Amino acid sequence: MPRILVVYYSRTGNTKKLVEGFVNGVKRVSGVEVVVRSVDEAKVEELLYADAIVFASPSYFRLPAWPLKKFIDESIAVYEKLEGKLGGALCSAGSEIGAIKCVQALKDVVEEHGMVFVGEGVWCIESPGDEDLERTANYGETIARAVIRTKG
Ligand SMILES: Cc1cc2nc3c(=O)[nH]c(=O)nc-3n(C[C@H](O)[C@H](O)[C@H](O)COP(=O)(O)O)c2cc1C
Repeated sequence: MPRILVVYYSRTGNTKKLVEGFVNGVKRVSGVEVVVRSVDEAKVEELLYADAIVFASPSYFRLPAWPLKKFIDESIAVYEKLEGKLGGALCSAGSEIGAIKCVQALKDVVEEHGMVFVGEGVWCIESPGDEDLERTANYGETIARAVIRTKG
């Protein structure tokens, strides 16, 4: 079954809520597995076994937070082995500019790995509201359908 892996960091829970909304959207599509890992539990090797990889983080100084960045730096171990997979990004931030820069940074990571970034990513200000949760669910559904198209 095609697999989506979400690797996230969330200190105060806002990004985690975005991830939960994303997962709800993936579950609208049958035949796709979604695996959610906090950065503490994620293993770099798991990236190899996913068909789509989504990174989720709060924006810290307009960048992904260091625990996720540390995991990303460790993913050099699988550099050139993720090419062609799908990728996505979710960010929560205190400001629009902080959120947009964080999503862009994660998009750069996805593309540096040779993956194909889906859509524009999803961001919200602090805790996601209902509209944000709907957008992140739609993003989850979009990635699930794309992964079925490419791997199903
Ligand atoms: C150390 C630190 C740095 C931050 N830097 C920014 C920033 O540069 N821009 C911004 O918009 N928000 C910034 N924030 C706010 C967080 O991105 C925001 O509160 C986010 O919703 C936290 O997500 P979480 O609940 O998943 O931890 C910062 C927060 C902290 C703790």
